[in-house]
Amino acid sequence: MNVTIATATLPKTGALILPAVEGTSLLPTAEAVDKAMSGGLKRAMKAADFKGKAGQVLDVVAPEGVGVSRLYMVGLGAARSVKQAGLETAAGTMVARLNAARVKQASIAADPIADADLSDADIAAHLAMGAQLAAYRFDGYFTKQKPDQKPTLTKFAVMTKAQARAKKAWEIQSAIAQGVYLARDLVNEPPNILYPESFAKKCKALTSHGLKVEVLGEKQMEKLGMGSLLGVGQGSVRESQLVVMRWEGGAQNAKPVAFVGKGVTFDTGGISLKPGAGMEDMKGDMGGAAAVTGTMLALAARKAKVNAVGVLGLVENMPDAGAQRPGDIVTSMSGQTIEIQNTDAEGRLVLADALWYTQDRFKPRFMIDLATLTGAILVALGEEHAGLFSENDKLSDQLSEAGKASGETVWRLPMGDAYDKLIKSKFADMRNIGGRNAGSITAAQFLNRFTNGVPWAHLDIAGTAWQSGAKPTSPSWGTGWGVRLLNRLVADNFE
Ligand code: BES
Ligand code: MN
Ligand code: ZN
Repeated sequence: MNVTIATATLPKTGALILPAVEGTSLLPTAEAVDKAMSGGLKRAMKAADFKGKAGQVLDVVAPEGVGVSRLYMVGLGAARSVKQAGLETAAGTMVARLNAARVKQASIAADPIADADLSDADIAAHLAMGAQLAAYRFDGYFTKQKPDQKPTLTKFAVMTKAQARAKKAWEIQSAIAQGVYLARDLVNEPPNILYPESFAKKCKALTSHGLKVEVLGEKQMEKLGMGSLLGVGQGSVRESQLVVMRWEGGAQNAKPVAFVGKGVTFDTGGISLKPGAGMEDMKGDMGGAAAVTGTMLALAARKAKVNAVGVLGLVENMPDAGAQRPGDIVTSMSGQTIEIQNTDAEGRLVLADALWYTQDRFKPRFMIDLATLTGAILVALGEEHAGLFSENDKLSDQLSEAGKASGETVWRLPMGDAYDKLIKSKFADMRNIGGRNAGSITAAQFLNRFTNGVPWAHLDIAGTAWQSGAKPTSPSWGTGWGVRLLNRLVADNFE
């Protein structure tokens, strides 16, 4: 689907969408259309009890007096509550409706909204963004899709009087959407196609966007002493990889911001094998690495004025004869030893070396890791928030704010010495699991031991990287969660 910013001229074909604000008079374009229809729009609104509530849709088939064959109104809620996420949801909802109605072309009127906190250009750009995010499809593996299963909508135009400024704002949003699309693709890909080496190859291809990309194989990681990460991959025939991506858009000597992603391309649990039911979801256990990759692409595509590094620990957790055992003791790059008590607590083992490497090499301003780390975070927060763990209040606040602004929200949970004690081991510096309680927190305490005092935050995205049902701006299983959050964090605080 092609999303464009267009002039405010009313279209002659396809569908016309008129957003409406609850509790006030019609927006200017809707008012003009109602006049052309001799009051027919207001009559339809009254008949359908359409008040412009957020998410409410009015469908007028074959309206008289206007050229288009279909006319829709979509509610935005009260003017003061109109924000980025609401506009995106409204446009996203309409994309699904238009496809269901087999519409091929649509135009949406992006009128300025008095009392809303957004400029007219931003209103247009976020309507475009919502449509773009909603148009995502992952259907490349269907060979027998019938025409009526395919989307019809090919053109989505956002009409605005602020065309030049809206185009600029849309260029930025469109770069972010590219990052979200990439992250979703990576999460949705099957694990026989996306494994550490093929993932790394996709990262290499991002050099065309101006990213610098290095890939370390097992030999190089052995030299660096990454026994913790390598232990996880040793039961797989696929070679483990560490990917380092750099975007240098900031001042030459400015310290970078750093993002680190868990990239377990499939998590069987290893020798501590997972139950079979639902195991196919573990193809998404690289959701953290996908979010980091998508963020790096977004930053590069919009030429962000920041230096950023993205580090991915890519492994496959399999249980073959070479696999590590419960009871094994491994030595991490930091020199700290770890007793493996459960091979299914593998994400933290991967991140331990990836985090240590990142701080050691780049001395970053901060590190944020993203990981589908614990089932326990789903129990605590469901699919609505990612878990945020950090000893740094400032970074935590910045992340919380960026979450609210982008719609990818986080919820902070506690850390501390009492939790840290729970990962003591009888035989080594630590063990890789705590007890039954506070499973997401003990995982975070584990990671904390590999940060070397650098400002750090951990996002447990096991509940947000993929989803059980579709949402207006997130139609597929893989959500691409994290790209918009991290992009927003950078844009608001580090550029
Ligand atoms: N990848 C899983 C966590 C997970 C579970 C993500 C469900 C998404 C949905 C992780 O590697 C894992 O297996 N964690 C264990 C830790 C336990 C052994 C301490 C878990 O959560 O059960
Ligand atoms: Mn696991
Ligand atoms: Zn895992």
